[in-house]
Amino acid sequence: MKVCNFLRICKFKFLTFNSMSKTYKIAVVPGDGIGNEIVPQGYRVLEAVAEKYNFNITSETFDWGAKYYLKEGKFLPDNGLETLKNFDAIYFGSVGLPEVDDTLPAKDYTFKVRTNFNQYVNYRPVRTYPGVARPLRSEKHIDFVIVRENVEGEFVQMGGQYLPESAEGMGIDTSVFTRKGIERVAHYAFKLARKRRNKVTHITKSNTLINSLSYWDRVIKEVAAAYPDVEHNQMYIDNCTASFVLKPEQFDVVLTTNLFGDILSDLGGAIMGSLGLGGSGNINPEKEFPSMFEPIHGSAPDIAGRNSANPYGQIWSAAIMLEHLGEEAAAKNIMEAVDKSTKEGVLTVDLGGNAGTKDVADAVIRNL
Ligand code: NAI
Ligand code: MG
Repeated sequence: MKVCNFLRICKFKFLTFNSMSKTYKIAVVPGDGIGNEIVPQGYRVLEAVAEKYNFNITSETFDWGAKYYLKEGKFLPDNGLETLKNFDAIYFGSVGLPEVDDTLPAKDYTFKVRTNFNQYVNYRPVRTYPGVARPLRSEKHIDFVIVRENVEGEFVQMGGQYLPESAEGMGIDTSVFTRKGIERVAHYAFKLARKRRNKVTHITKSNTLINSLSYWDRVIKEVAAAYPDVEHNQMYIDNCTASFVLKPEQFDVVLTTNLFGDILSDLGGAIMGSLGLGGSGNINPEKEFPSMFEPIHGSAPDIAGRNSANPYGQIWSAAIMLEHLGEEAAAKNIMEAVDKSTKEGVLTVDLGGNAGTKDVADAVIRNL
């Protein structure tokens, strides 16, 4: 009888332990175009790794984006942001369709989420994938992170158009750089460098943008003084683009403004071998709001609907999300499985292979 009771208690404890394993609530927003192909495959990888590492993922999928706009006249419902606040993270594809005004996707979805959820860091790593041919002459290993300021700078969308149809027409956008905005992203970059190879290169163009970007430089230098152990240097954006191609191995943490970071991260994708390889996180480091994880590219309408889109960047974004949620081992496991898969030659069309989108996720899940 006593043994029976003991077993019952053990069983109860075992069940309690299982139900006590962590559960993460994920808002899934595939968006438009290839988002609808790569996000479900990335989510399959998430589910598989969650099972292996004994945590739970629950999710709700939202059909927001440009297609939703065609029906509803908006990219997300009025209570969309409130709805997203109930989640631990947002797993996002991308938004935009050729038949919808392309000034809207960033303004009405992406920037809206990034700004309202204070996701002031855009974390965009660049690295070599085994077995993937790169366009660069050098075979040297690349491993750096672009830390893009994500809520101010050139993308605040403050400005206007004056008599656009007329001969006197003009369009103005104002860049905004605040001390608070620069300091917080700079601290993030220097702290990140301490966990990596202790080097921050901050990108600027203060020789011509003598007000906004010389202020950017000044505040970053003040922050740098608090990290004497981290090597810090400044580089002009024009030189930086050339250096990404000629000597990318020199970079560790690349701290950039919003616009420069947007452009440099596509170049980062290209030097890895394809835009489809880049993952990213729009991060609110204080975790006051959910962070949002998406590949660096757009909705690629030119290749949508063919099961040929490369999902590696979307899968990498899942790993970055898990790292942010504190599941470092699972995140590392995803990237090991990704490396095994590319090394085996599971490559999509953009990488010179013939694997479909789903084949890639199958391979990654098998290699976990
Ligand atoms: P894009 O990044 O969607 O595509 C550029 C090129 O890269 C295309 O040739 C495309 O086929 C290729 N490509 C991109 N991702 C790929 C993948 N995973 N696998 C294989 N090939 C891939 O940029 P584009 O064409 O300038 O923009 C298309 C739409 O996406 C626009 O409406 C744009 O506004 C939107 N967009 C949305 C973003 C977001 O939601 N965060 C970011 C960038 C663009
Ligand atoms: Mg971009």
